[in-house]
Amino acid sequence: MNSETGPKQVLVVHGPNLNMLGLREPDTYGRTRLADIDSKLVLSGTRWGLTVQVFQSNHEGAIVDKLHSAMGTIDGLIINPAAYTHTSIAIRDALAMLSVPIIEVHLSNIHKREAFRHTSLMAAIVTGQIVGLGADGYYLALHALADILETSALLAPEDKDQKHS
Ligand code: DQA
Repeated sequence: MNSETGPKQVLVVHGPNLNMLGLREPDTYGRTRLADIDSKLVLSGTRWGLTVQVFQSNHEGAIVDKLHSAMGTIDGLIINPAAYTHTSIAIRDALAMLSVPIIEVHLSNIHKREAFRHTSLMAAIVTGQIVGLGADGYYLALHALADILETSALLAPEDKDQKHS
């Protein structure tokens, strides 16, 4: 179950080809490996009162299945749907079933790239998006979730008073 008292549960989902980060078009996506991003997310989560689970798949249905199994068990979600951002109504519909804050992350600035990357089918149903900041986007997304879920000891009390929707 998602947590009322203990650490809040955050799921991080990475879509297709992101397992190749570091090797894949490094000028566009950076040189940081996915394993390094994931381990930093898990570590940052422990500092901010969040238990972080990471998941990567190259398969649309596997991502949909993961989102189904997350229903009722997580308090927040970070997702980089990668190429499925622009094509997958199935992933959008699965996200729409979740009643938790969702941050969509893209390493590259999809709006500066080819026209087919300018549209995110997820955009209208997520809480917020972070694009173009490379791997830092994931850590900023986790910090945003800590703020929204009000878990972080690092956040100033006045910040915690602000409400997000
Ligand atoms: C991406 C952008 C997508 O257009 C692309 O298909 C990806 C990665 C990003 O993180 O910048 O695989 O989501």
